[in-house]
Amino acid sequence: MTPDLMDEGARRIASRSAPAALGQTESGGRAAGFSRIATPGEVDIAHGRILYLEDVNVSFDGFKAINNLSLDIAPGELRCIIGPNGAGKTTMMDIITGKTRPDSGTVYFGSTIDLLRHNEPEIASLGIGRKFQKPTVFEQLTVFENLELALKTHKGVKSSMFFKLDSAQSDRLAEVLHTIHLADSVARMAGNLSHGQKQWLEIGMLLMQDPKLLLLDEPVAGMTDEETARTAELFLSLKGKHSLMVVEHDMSFIRTISEIVTVLCDGAVLAQGTLDQVQADERVIEVYLGR
Ligand SMILES: Nc1ncnc2c1ncn2[C@@H]1O[C@H](COP(=O)(O)OP(=O)(O)O)[C@@H](O)[C@H]1O
Ligand SMILES: [Mg+2]
Repeated sequence: MTPDLMDEGARRIASRSAPAALGQTESGGRAAGFSRIATPGEVDIAHGRILYLEDVNVSFDGFKAINNLSLDIAPGELRCIIGPNGAGKTTMMDIITGKTRPDSGTVYFGSTIDLLRHNEPEIASLGIGRKFQKPTVFEQLTVFENLELALKTHKGVKSSMFFKLDSAQSDRLAEVLHTIHLADSVARMAGNLSHGQKQWLEIGMLLMQDPKLLLLDEPVAGMTDEETARTAELFLSLKGKHSLMVVEHDMSFIRTISEIVTVLCDGAVLAQGTLDQVQADERVIEVYLGR
């Protein structure tokens, strides 16, 4: 990301015609001068958003998977996304992470980084981590080695040949081990962990890169009740330090962790509010909860 690019991004935002809408978020963000440019390598959250989607559209063979989707997330927020199968939840994450290009619309990380100008690896290194539904840890490596590898791969192949953890990285690794409840399993083969532990390890691998925004797609699917409860604790401990977007179907899990819940349906936001508010919404009951 060059200052030029960010300058360009700031100009593009400034030239958009909806300053009133831009100036407010549900989360209480407030408008600042558009002339403010972020420091390179940092995300400008002066406008109270870490992620901003506006009027995003994607069609697959004429089928509108994402339909004028607009949504924003505040820094440090833990946003829950629910909605029926096929609503576009995973596709939305594909768009944010650069896996799928939208046909139209705006996708910003902070107020200056236009994510549509970046590819998947660039978006990851900008500080957006993604956890897919299936755990993808290296089964033949230990918990420690998996976490170490997450740092190496982040630094690029060249540097990984001579890679050795410095003391800050060792501290970070120890902190992440503690956060993901695997401090007692550091020398275990990842392949021998439970399903839930593998999921935590993969989250730990993302945390090693200290992402600003974490996207988690159905993180507690297949977990035991106890693992689900520990995952809720984990996410609550990450909130504030990171921004999180969590897609889940498990309503008791959502109840434990949620502040604002966004309901997606047919590629757009159907409802948004507290879980109680959206659960009482007739449209939400009809398309999702009432089935
Ligand atoms: N790469 C793709 N090609 C064609 N159709 C797709 C593709 N990805 C998703 N879809 C379709 O888009 C819709 C939304 O899918 P998805 O984002 O996976 O929904 P969700 O995660 O909410 O269940 C579905 O109808 C799905 O079949
Ligand atoms: Mg999905």
